[in-house]
Amino acid sequence: MVGMQIADIADEIDHELVSKAQIEAKITEVAWQVSRDYQGKNPLLIAVLKGAINTIAAFSQALSIPAQLDFMSLSSYGSGTTSQGTVTVRQDLSSDVRGRHILIVEDIVDSGHTLAWLVDELKRRGAASVEIFALLEKPSRREVQVDVKYRGYEIPDEFVVGFGLDYDERFRNLDSIAVLKSEVYQGEQA
Ligand code: PRP
Repeated sequence: MVGMQIADIADEIDHELVSKAQIEAKITEVAWQVSRDYQGKNPLLIAVLKGAINTIAAFSQALSIPAQLDFMSLSSYGSGTTSQGTVTVRQDLSSDVRGRHILIVEDIVDSGHTLAWLVDELKRRGAASVEIFALLEKPSRREVQVDVKYRGYEIPDEFVVGFGLDYDERFRNLDSIAVLKSEVYQGEQA
């Protein structure tokens, strides 16, 4: 199966940051750890739409234990390329989380505001445990403390797209993670 690759959009991509093979290797490694840690616990995997859909799809299929999936759509107050402290629920979970062992599956932790809010909210709703798997982290952008138990790749503060991550709803279906050319997101303002 051949999907959209960097070569297909080379005029808009500066360089590849995390290859398809690296993504698959990391997800496989974390899925092995999680399958061991959550044996017999029937975890509920929660992804925040839309960026995490590729990660949760690949990750859930790499687990060797039964797991359930649920989704939430959140929006940080304000718009633009940075999120802020206030989070509102656009679309809620369909599951009752009381007593459940929850693993939040995220594509990227940036400022940390989204996850900090979500962890508190799930605990408030009575989850038995809440842990996080984040495929990517931008440590230099962190504003609030979040404990990411299962960690993927640390990346620099660059505008990345692919494997679920978008610019203006584009590039989510790129099969790797890449840095966008600055002309692409600056061009509109010129
Ligand atoms: C991204 C990402 C996280 C959040 C992280 O979502 O998927 O949910 O930002 O940012 P933070 O750590 O600064 O809170 P985004 O708001 O871009 O929406 P999307 O997933 O629909 O693209």
